[in-house]
Amino acid sequence: MNVDAGQAEGYALQEEPYYRPLSDEIEVFLAAYEQRLPVLLKGPTGCGKTRFVEYMAHRIYRGGISTQGPGQPLQTVACHEDLSATDLVGRFLLKGEETVWQDGPLTRAVKEGAICYLDEIVEARKDSTVLIHSLTDHRRILPVEKLGTILDAHTDFLLVISYNPGYQNVLKDLKPSTRQRFISIDFDYPEADDEAEIIAHESSVDPETANRLARLGANIRNLRSHGFDEGVSTRLLVYAGQLMVQGIAARRACDAAISKAVSDDKEVQRAVAELVDAIFPAP
Ligand SMILES: Nc1ncnc2c1ncn2[C@@H]1O[C@H](COP(=O)(O)OP(=O)(O)OP(=O)(O)O)[C@@H](O)[C@H]1O
Ligand SMILES: [Mg+2]
Repeated sequence: MNVDAGQAEGYALQEEPYYRPLSDEIEVFLAAYEQRLPVLLKGPTGCGKTRFVEYMAHRIYRGGISTQGPGQPLQTVACHEDLSATDLVGRFLLKGEETVWQDGPLTRAVKEGAICYLDEIVEARKDSTVLIHSLTDHRRILPVEKLGTILDAHTDFLLVISYNPGYQNVLKDLKPSTRQRFISIDFDYPEADDEAEIIAHESSVDPETANRLARLGANIRNLRSHGFDEGVSTRLLVYAGQLMVQGIAARRACDAAISKAVSDDKEVQRAVAELVDAIFPAP
């Protein structure tokens, strides 16, 4: 694994990641990849964006669509407010007496022809969004200022970014000149049947329990119209299942993984706990 200042990860993706498609997102992504159109994934936390990119990277590189040889098919960078262009592109490091250049995750992806996934791009500093521009139009180049060079992107390179429209403030919204460089695929939490399948697969709970957890998820998301905006992520429903598989009683598992986890607001916690009681009644 390549680790860069604790935020970048390269995946070898030996095994196909499990991904349950919810709509036509796989076809759209493949078509975009064929044309090397950059992709923006939009959707709330824990709804499957990262898993989707892992799955697509596996499918594209192992499926032979791309010519990429050995190396990391996917470079993921979790963006944060201190993330600068240098973190993405690379830097000189002091090794003993020498200074050596180390490529950042974006540079590695550009050179090797990987997918570079910039998670929560709006969090990153302005200079890193500017970098993206020359890579996402016909030029497909990455200026490496510190080396005084300009890299042509490998033909297999693709830039994918994600963005959670829910809790961004207006100031941090993507600029039109950035966002209009990407095709956009919307994600949302799955329908109950799909979500039950996902929960069963990811946590190994029995189908009946998975169905109940999915139903609970849908009911909690209905609270959204009552002033509770976040809803509950598929991720947390999976966590609840995982606690149950370890022998934690269903209600306690939901309490820890869901009611207490979705919000700090006591009112919201109580409302969620009531929904839990209805679906997992006390024995
Ligand atoms: N369609 C799906 N197929 C398979 N697993 C899924 C799917 N949707 C969600 N999951 C499960 O939910 C978990 C969380 O999904 P993921 O990490 O991809 O969310 P995300 O959208 O990237 O969230 P964040 O915005 O917080 O990064 C996954 O680890 C997986 O277990
Ligand atoms: Mg993610």
